[in-house]
Amino acid sequence: MSTTTETQTQNQTKFGTTADIPIPRGSTKASLTFYSAPPDGAAPFNYVEPQPEGHPQRNFGEFNQEVTIQDVRGRESDFDMNTNGFSVIQGVSSEEKDFADDEHIKQIYYPEVEKVLLENAPGANRIFLFDHTVRRSDPGAKRTPVTRAHIDQTTKSATARVHLHMKEEADELLKGRVRLINVWRPLNGPVVASPLAYADSRSVPDSDIIGVEHRYPDRTGETASVKFTEQGRWHYLSGMKNDERILLQCYDSKDGARTPHTAFTDPRTQPGWPGRESIEVRALVFG
Ligand code: OGA
Ligand code: FE
Repeated sequence: MSTTTETQTQNQTKFGTTADIPIPRGSTKASLTFYSAPPDGAAPFNYVEPQPEGHPQRNFGEFNQEVTIQDVRGRESDFDMNTNGFSVIQGVSSEEKDFADDEHIKQIYYPEVEKVLLENAPGANRIFLFDHTVRRSDPGAKRTPVTRAHIDQTTKSATARVHLHMKEEADELLKGRVRLINVWRPLNGPVVASPLAYADSRSVPDSDIIGVEHRYPDRTGETASVKFTEQGRWHYLSGMKNDERILLQCYDSKDGARTPHTAFTDPRTQPGWPGRESIEVRALVFG
């Protein structure tokens, strides 16, 4: 294992990245948070919004384990969604600069995401973008990095999503291939804090992926939490830049690749370095 840093001059950006930070490169070790079952044997749940009075926010526990996280920088094209569950796309330009207004994001950024998916998800012929999340690391931010290994959807919730958004077309669409893919990018790259890690889909068996009831105020969905496995092979993209995208496949009705993922605290990050800001857009991908 090598843990190296490399000095690179960065441009001052409007998101507050400071110059001359030595970007951590190469594989690193970090503690990740995994699932542990509710002690009473109950089915696991968590509340998305603040939980109703008298209820815990979640009823399952956590298990922290140090793992090695490999850098895919320099071998980005070795990984592909069908096989590994994630892909790296580079050199993507964007007209959206602020990421401050949801309607503006939908108008300007969504069509760019749709194009990335049509060009990079082989076979895709129709895209429906149903959600996005902007994350900022400061404690006052509405959404912060997620430090818990998970997969956003399960077969059950992916199927329910198709019905929810595609209405009377759903049954027909479900006869074909349906994928659920998140398009993730930083807003203040290069990322030097709270990078996103993703496991090779093949290295985490189905038996370590646990469906969790995801209770919204108005409906109940399902996400998956992930148990620690010795075989898990974790990756990240060092110094990820604003013109790069990670495609994280959460569900595929055909080949089944789905990638567990989580943010991690990089032990090489120094106090005072800018916190990571990012956006992920969630897509139903047909064809
Ligand atoms: C995602 C996700 C977490 C993060 O994109 O699905 O879980 O910290 N992101 O960005
Ligand atoms: Fe996620």
